Amino acid sequence: MAVEKGAGLSAGFEDADYKQAGATLECNVSEMFRAADMVLCIAPPEAAGIDHMTEGTLIAGMLNPYDNRGLLQILAERRMTAIALELVPRITRAQSMDALSSQSSLAGYRAVIIGAEALGSIFPLMMTAAGTLFPARVLVLGAGVAGLQAIATAKRLGAETWGYDIRTAAAEQVESLGARFVDLNEGAPEGAADTETEGGYARELDEAEAGRRRRLLAEHIARADVVITTALVPGRPAPRLIDAETARGMKRGSVIVDLAGPAGGNCELTRPGETFREGGLTILAPLNLPADVPTHASQLLARNLSALVAEVIGDNGLAVDLENDVIGPCCVTHAGEIRFGG
Ligand code: NAI
Repeated sequence: MAVEKGAGLSAGFEDADYKQAGATLECNVSEMFRAADMVLCIAPPEAAGIDHMTEGTLIAGMLNPYDNRGLLQILAERRMTAIALELVPRITRAQSMDALSSQSSLAGYRAVIIGAEALGSIFPLMMTAAGTLFPARVLVLGAGVAGLQAIATAKRLGAETWGYDIRTAAAEQVESLGARFVDLNEGAPEGAADTETEGGYARELDEAEAGRRRRLLAEHIARADVVITTALVPGRPAPRLIDAETARGMKRGSVIVDLAGPAGGNCELTRPGETFREGGLTILAPLNLPADVPTHASQLLARNLSALVAEVIGDNGLAVDLENDVIGPCCVTHAGEIRFGG
């Protein structure tokens, strides 16, 4: 087991920690790639790095398969076996390998923290001799893993919290955290409430239904102090939940934290990776919130990867079983072929 020298420093792990765990420390990354049977990474290596690997090397990490056809091409040409953590199926058996969930939980938590910091008010009810401060109103749009963690964090900080999702199954989860669910299904056309795929993900809505929901959501957004948006549809641009007019109509001092920035954002005014400020409104759209908490992000990702390695390594050593119900769906290249359609 070889680890790049200094790889853990910014996450709070010393080279000595890896040494103590039995790893060797390497300075020469090209040499590491050449010698490796398996490369575990966060983001994929550059093409030049892949060139150093030997045919058949297994690479596992966040490979961003939907937007990275070029990488898949290179990996297939080099006959690598590539496992994209983003495609680990959402089944109970695979939960320990589910890096999207582990990292989304951290992102949901951090979204509330940065939203609270940007707000000129506090979250909880506070009764003081100088008067009573009423709790902040937090609305979370998209109640998947990140959204539910955001709801839980906002509740813990004492905010009045609402959650919304197009998947009706999310209502119970939002309410189980003590928040209120914004239900926009009433008045939806026939079939529009069927918004969940077999894999548990959301379907993309047609423009008429998306517009109907945007208009209804606007009333709830107008009452909120902080809106946290997390809505995504895998492989598609992020759904537009807040148009510019609705955002500009929010109370002075309001904050939007848009976690869908990497997919274009849930708010029309979002500038992915930047902070937008106008007339008292702040929109934060950080692209990698788990990186704000690198120690825990690394700890969880390492557990996900080690569970995946245990799944891949069978009794006879490294052998990729494409019939395996976890490995099959997330193996994007193998034996010279791209196995992912996007
Ligand atoms: P995601 O990151 O793909 O999307 C975030 C949320 O946005 C989802 O809840 C989605 O329904 C919602 N969304 C999409 N379009 C929307 C719209 N137009 N308006 C409002 N909300 C919208 O989702 P995530 O967090 O990756 O979870 C996806 C599914 O996987 C969920 O059903 C979740 O419960 C399930 N899951 C299952 C696990 C397991 O059983 N092992 C583990 C983790 C998640």
